[in-house]
Amino acid sequence: MASVPVYYFSSVSNLTGRFAEHLAERTGRAVFNLADSAVRRGETDGPWVLLTPSYKAGNADEVTLPAPVKAFLRSPANRRSLVGIIGSGNRNFGEYYQAAARELAAASGRPVLFEFELSGTPEDVARCAEILAALDAALTR
Ligand SMILES: Cc1cc2nc3c(=O)[nH]c(=O)nc-3n(C[C@H](O)[C@H](O)[C@H](O)COP(=O)(O)O)c2cc1C
Repeated sequence: MASVPVYYFSSVSNLTGRFAEHLAERTGRAVFNLADSAVRRGETDGPWVLLTPSYKAGNADEVTLPAPVKAFLRSPANRRSLVGIIGSGNRNFGEYYQAAARELAAASGRPVLFEFELSGTPEDVARCAEILAALDAALTR
């Protein structure tokens, strides 16, 4: 069964990146870092899932999506083949919790598959792995 790759962005604090690495280690799923310009400029060759943190709160322009995520989504092919979104956030940000994942889901019509705080717990990684495995199975059918 093909496994859907996860494309992620993580800032210097690398909380989202740690979650992505744990997901890859645990499941062998391919994860790609959108901080890498070669990745960001490329196109996926099939369905993919986005994993993004939110930096909406306190942002004067209220820009929802991190710039590398926006850059990757500029490709119509990448926009078309996006199948779901995973969010990393922090509940301290109140109404802005998971703003990036939730606003992109609303704009794109793709579901938020899973949300966690910071770099997630081992249970979060396990739960997310199950959700992605179910997605793989659904896409294979
Ligand atoms: C300046 C700043 C703004 C943030 N804004 C939000 C926000 O609007 N919503 C949210 O859920 N989390 C927000 N967070 C929390 C981050 O999304 C969260 O810590 C995430 O795990 C960071 O991932 P990263 O280390 O991979 O960049 C913010 C964090 C910072 C430092």
